Amino acid sequence: MNLLCSLIEKNMIKEKILVIGACGQIGVELTLELRKLYGGANVIASDLRAENELLKGTGPYVSLDVMNKEMLHVQVIRQNITQIYLLAAILSATGEKNPHLAWSLNTTSLLNVLEIAKDENVHKVYWPSSIAVFGPTSPKINCPQQTVIEPITVYGISKYAGEFWCNYFNHRYKVDVRSLRYPGLISYKSEPGGGTTDYAVEIFHEAIETKTYNCFLKEDTYLPMMYMPDAIRATIELMESEESKIKVRTSYNISGVSFSPKEIAAGIKKHIPGFTISYEPDYRQEIATSWPQSIDDSVAKKDWGWKPAFDLSALTTDMIKNLED
Ligand SMILES: NC(=O)c1ccc[n+]([C@@H]2O[C@H](COP(=O)([O-])OP(=O)(O)OC[C@H]3O[C@@H](n4cnc5c(N)ncnc54)[C@H](O)[C@@H]3O)[C@@H](O)[C@H]2O)c1
Repeated sequence: MNLLCSLIEKNMIKEKILVIGACGQIGVELTLELRKLYGGANVIASDLRAENELLKGTGPYVSLDVMNKEMLHVQVIRQNITQIYLLAAILSATGEKNPHLAWSLNTTSLLNVLEIAKDENVHKVYWPSSIAVFGPTSPKINCPQQTVIEPITVYGISKYAGEFWCNYFNHRYKVDVRSLRYPGLISYKSEPGGGTTDYAVEIFHEAIETKTYNCFLKEDTYLPMMYMPDAIRATIELMESEESKIKVRTSYNISGVSFSPKEIAAGIKKHIPGFTISYEPDYRQEIATSWPQSIDDSVAKKDWGWKPAFDLSALTTDMIKNLED
């Protein structure tokens, strides 16, 4: 990262980055970090929603519907875009309420971006996949990079199809598209967007505001999770790696930490002694049960040096400190 910073300072790297879905849970923090690296003016935030408060004044913002390919194409040409980060999607829990829309947005947005990247001077594309590609027949513990993949949610199906589109555009047209299978992401800056792991963010807000939380998953539901600073660093490290190091052109497994609602509640209780949790599993339990409990990320470690920094104790302390400030 230091080498990258000095090359950027010396103006040896001239990139113009478009972030699509910049007002979402990941987009806000990723945009802010990219702006630190590349300069505010070189990172264009875009979304369907109004500009997020945290982004205001830090760089340009355009209102953009990624489903409108012509509008997207015009922006890419007009702004001389060299890298695209595509974050717009409908997530796992929301996707089950409107499967057709989730399939349509998650796959058409990616095809629009990949086709424009192929035709224009776009050097790199980032598109996240998810642990939701795995299904009940995948191994539960240390789920490997390559294994049985039979997703049961429309979100998982759309992500798995998307992985193969990325692979196809890389092999057939040499589009340098890179991807990570994020686990559930935990952050305090922006709200989660309708995923099955959202409980691990809500629990902190409720613990601080009401000292109680009613969890929509069972107490012993182990899921792979990651603290947002690790996810942002993984994304940027993947994108800044030499092209020759990126061997997986579907999507890389990455792992942070695995825990259950009972374990995170116990960790929160150490900071907020009166905190209590109750359990009322809903439709999201079936989705969570279909996913692995932990992920084997040895291929990402070997190929481009991935290493997580936050364990459950460190992320719990950091979340509470920041939410209480
Ligand atoms: N958050 C997680 O835990 C998690 C885990 C695994 C994978 N991912 C993936 O990471 C990416 C970002 O996730 P997130 O949590 O930030 O999602 P989010 O729902 O918080 O944000 C998505 C953003 O995309 C925008 N958007 C939706 N439709 C759009 C359109 N047609 N045109 C332009 N923008 C549009 C939304 O307004 C929103 O701001 C997604 O691809 C998601 O599948 C997220």
